[in-house]
Parts: sequence; structure tokens; C-alpha cells
Amino acid sequence: MKTWRKPLKLGLVGATGVVGETFINLLEEYAYPVEEFRPFASQNSEGSKLFLAGQNWAVQTLKPGCFNGLDMVFFSSGDDLSKEWAPQAVKAGAFAIDNSNAFRMNNNILLVVPEVNGHLIDKNSKPQIISNPNCSTIQLVMALKPLQLHYGIEEVVVSTYQAVSGAGLAGYEELLEQTKNFQVPNHEGKAFPKQILFNCIPQIGSFDENGFCSEEIKIMNETPKILGQADLKVSAFTVRIPALNSHSEAVWVTLKKDVDRLDLLKTMDDFPGLAMMDTDYPTPLEVSGEEPVFVGRVHQDLHNPKKWLMWVVSDNLKKGAALNGLQIADLIFS
Ligand SMILES: NC(=O)c1ccc[n+]([C@@H]2O[C@H](COP(=O)([O-])OP(=O)(O)OC[C@H]3O[C@@H](n4cnc5c(N)ncnc54)[C@H](OP(=O)(O)O)[C@@H]3O)[C@@H](O)[C@H]2O)c1
Repeated sequence: MKTWRKPLKLGLVGATGVVGETFINLLEEYAYPVEEFRPFASQNSEGSKLFLAGQNWAVQTLKPGCFNGLDMVFFSSGDDLSKEWAPQAVKAGAFAIDNSNAFRMNNNILLVVPEVNGHLIDKNSKPQIISNPNCSTIQLVMALKPLQLHYGIEEVVVSTYQAVSGAGLAGYEELLEQTKNFQVPNHEGKAFPKQILFNCIPQIGSFDENGFCSEEIKIMNETPKILGQADLKVSAFTVRIPALNSHSEAVWVTLKKDVDRLDLLKTMDDFPGLAMMDTDYPTPLEVSGEEPVFVGRVHQDLHNPKKWLMWVVSDNLKKGAALNGLQIADLIFS
């Protein structure tokens, strides 16, 4: 991590959520210079205190003028709130780094994973909204970028195995609650459409008329935008599993060139933010709390030598959300 050239005045919308908490922990862990901190959440959390940079800061609700004087606001409280409030942060003179889906596919808004397309950010630009991609997309493009750079990519197929923390605090608590009461059948929950304990659910978000759910559409749309390859064919199938944290992906990538396996491993290993595992493989439990995107089980398809299979695992709250947002802030302020 870098540090900022001057102490910043920061806002954090969704400060009491799982991503918000991770964002604060990262600021603390790396001792970022914070001059002022304004945490925002719903009325339920108003007045509660959050500790950062040696002080307790009272949680506020969003009100007109609440961003005045801030340098940057990180938004992590859902699409509707971002749509309404991120433009107001920019009007107030702050950069808005948005962790929601609200602006990601807007042609005028940057969608950034710093290691992949961070060059798009001009630190001399005026305050604007910058989108943080979907968590599953971030770890996917991290694994794909070195392959695209060196060999070209024809097609990507991905099947995800996503942890409950991806559905926020409510998802996390629902799995813990069902685990405590595991002998009670027919768990009813709110975060997931079916019982998540002892189960896997092939639905993340709502379905469209073609049978895709919204998480799949995000991955399929965001990946070509971030990789700057509009013609890239991406097909995604997303599944929620009863892991507490960190998303896993089985990825099939068809390259444009033939490549030797060891060359391919070296190419990926040299890419910043990727941790390659050759003799072992990563699991969500082991990877939780870690910053890199882990890749294991890289092997060649038996029918098509240009097609490679791999297993990609990353902490969705860190690189998939808060850490990526903080790295975007670094590109602007360091
Ligand atoms: N979880 C992930 O892995 C992940 C990854 C990438 C992107 N995201 C995106 O990040 C966002 C937040 O996710 P999360 O997982 O942190 O959710 P979460 O744990 O459910 O937290 C939601 C946050 O939003 C706040 N909030 C709710 N209503 C509000 C209001 N009216 N005004 C201000 N704040 C309000 C909540 O405050 P209270 O505590 O007061 O209710 C809480 O701080 C979502 O857009 C999600 O899609 C999440």
C-alpha cells in the first residue's frame, strides 16, 4: 500500500457494513493519514462511534451538505443510495469511489482495478465518480490481465462459488444463525432465497429474461470494459455456497496463442497482486484476510491446447471491495 501526500478528509457511506468495516480496518492497519472522518449509515446506527486514526467518530445519516469539505467519499451502501448521493459528493468537491453497481457500465465513468487499468486515472483530474467493480469481476480480471497482455484472450467461461459475506452482514449472520441451529430443518432466511447451510444456491441477484442472474450479467459486462476488450466473450454462472468469506472461481480461458505451462505460470506470477500456487491450491477459508488474488490448479484442456483451466480465490471484502477502493484512492492522492 502507498500513503497519501497529505492527510485527507474522508467520508464513508455504509461505514457499519462488512465492506465499511474492512475499509476502516485497512486505513488503521496501514496508518493512513486521516485528518477528518465522517462515517455514514442508516438511522439505526446514528450516533454510534467508530474508531479511526486515534479518535472515535460519530456515525451520521446522509443529509444535504453532509459531504462539504471532504476530499473523498467511499460509497458502500447499495445502488440506490449511490445513485442519489455520489453525484452530490462530487458537487461538494470530493472524489466519490463507488462500490455499488450504479455507475459501473456508464461510458463516462471509470471502472478500475488498479493493477489492471489504473493508468486510466489521472491524478490531476477534477473530482468525479470512479466505480469499484463487482467483487467476482475483480479477482477474475486480475487473473486474466497477464494472460491478455502476453497471449491474447479469445474467450472466458467462469463458474463462481461465492461466500455469504458477499451478501453483506445479513448474509454472514444468516449462515452463522443456521449453523448454530443446524438441527432445525427448513431454515427461513432473508439474505438468500433458500437455506444456505448444507446447501448451494445457483442464484445471486434476480433473473433476467434470458435466464441469467444479475451477478452473472455484472461479470459478463464488466470484464470486457476493465480489460479494454469489447469483443471478449465472457460467460458466467454464479453460485452461493456456505463459505463465510472469500469467493472462489473455476475459470476456463481460451488464449489466442500456444503457450508452455511453465511460461504461463511465470507470466501470472510476475503480475502484481497475484499469488500463484502450483503444488497446492487456495481455499476460501485459507485466503480470508489476505490481500492477493490466489490462483491454483492451472492446467491445460485435453481437447483444446489453447484452453486453460484454473482456480481463482480472493477475499471479496478486501481485494473484492475495500482494498481495491483504497488502491484507487492511492492512485489519486499519493
Ligand atoms: N460484501 C461484499 O463482498 C461486497 C463486495 C463488493 C461490493 N459490495 C457492495 O458494497 C455495498 C455494501 O455492501 P456490504 O456487503 O458492506 O453490505 P452491508 O453489510 O449490508 O452494509 C450496508 C451498509 O449500508 C448502510 N446503509 C443502509 N441504509 C442506509 C441509508 N439509508 N443511509 C446510509 N447508509 C445506509 C448500512 O447501515 P446500517 O448498519 O445502519 O444499516 C451499512 O453500513 C453494496 O453495494 C454491495 O453490493 C459488497
